[in-house]
Amino acid sequence: MPATKIYKYLRAAWLQMTSSPDLASLYQLLARQQRPILPSGERRAILGCGYVGEAVARAWKQEGHALWATTTRRERLGELSELVDTPLIFDSTDSSTNLDFAADLDGILVSFAPSKSSEVDLTQYRRTFLGGLQRLTETLDRRPHGTPLQLVHLSSCGVYGNRQGAVTSETAPTDFDHPVNQVLVKAEEMIASIRSDRIKVCVLRLGGIYGPGRDIPAMLLSAAGGLVQRNGLNVPCWIHRDDIVRGVCFAFEQGLNDTYNLVNDTQLSGQELTDRLCEKAGLPLAMWMTINTSDRVLNARVSNDKIKQLGFAFTHPCMVG
Ligand SMILES: NC(=O)c1ccc[n+]([C@@H]2O[C@H](COP(=O)([O-])OP(=O)(O)OC[C@H]3O[C@@H](n4cnc5c(N)ncnc54)[C@H](OP(=O)(O)O)[C@@H]3O)[C@@H](O)[C@H]2O)c1
Repeated sequence: MPATKIYKYLRAAWLQMTSSPDLASLYQLLARQQRPILPSGERRAILGCGYVGEAVARAWKQEGHALWATTTRRERLGELSELVDTPLIFDSTDSSTNLDFAADLDGILVSFAPSKSSEVDLTQYRRTFLGGLQRLTETLDRRPHGTPLQLVHLSSCGVYGNRQGAVTSETAPTDFDHPVNQVLVKAEEMIASIRSDRIKVCVLRLGGIYGPGRDIPAMLLSAAGGLVQRNGLNVPCWIHRDDIVRGVCFAFEQGLNDTYNLVNDTQLSGQELTDRLCEKAGLPLAMWMTINTSDRVLNARVSNDKIKQLGFAFTHPCMVG
């Protein structure tokens, strides 16, 4: 990268620092600057280029990286070709597709998840997550030794299960009772087992994703004045897609090699959150159940302190306001 571009990028951030400059504040300011395009980017792949993957692809394209991205559907190859250099078909449940291209890259985002359906199909969860990670592990075993690689895996704060609303950091025990959580925790273990002195593995545990086209606040508001058939006392957690993209870029920039919760600051129960949204919109409050109506529950005040302490700043820290 030309030295003048780096100088301008750092100087613009430094000039905004008003008092007692320190490294964490500098990182936060740099995160808000538009990043300079790299003349010689890295070779990076997005495995499962869906809602989040596409947004990451746009950011990485802007940074100047050569990009690969996968979909299970042939009809999406055209749209992905607008975003990445090499769109490919990969389906972890289909042995005729493979990840051979991934054996020689600088960075990989693992963001595949079973396609949406109203019912959670446990077999499909196992085949998608565990089958996919098994295929990735085998591919990376064939990787030339000594070449550095950054992996980022998108997991879920759902793994904490029902902690009765307790404040929950990354060291809290994960839930082994629910079979979906068992799969997600096993997936985290599989990706962590790839870690080596040359391969860094960052696991980002996400909250429920919202953003353009996934308007969770509007969905919650639509309950105004009605009855929500869920336990309003449970505390879920949330993350805006923009902050996931920034979190993934941050993980790459910082070379993160650990597990981090990536959730915003909203630590409200479902009912409290909806009440605030309704009050702000001048709408009648919704009624909620006070008993669990689903067997898979997240009820935890998930802390984002660990990633914040590294200097990460959220652009959407709260869902209300
Ligand atoms: N949604 C949430 O609220 C939430 C919460 C916590 C964590 N997460 C995690 O965040 C990540 C990104 O979520 P997202 O909302 O971007 O997901 P998404 O939009 O559903 O995209 C999932 C991607 O995975 C691909 N895929 C589906 N089945 C596959 C298979 N068998 N083999 C390989 N690829 C497969 C899909 O292919 P197609 O392109 O063919 O659709 C798609 O590209 C996922 O890992 C998810 O588990 C999500």
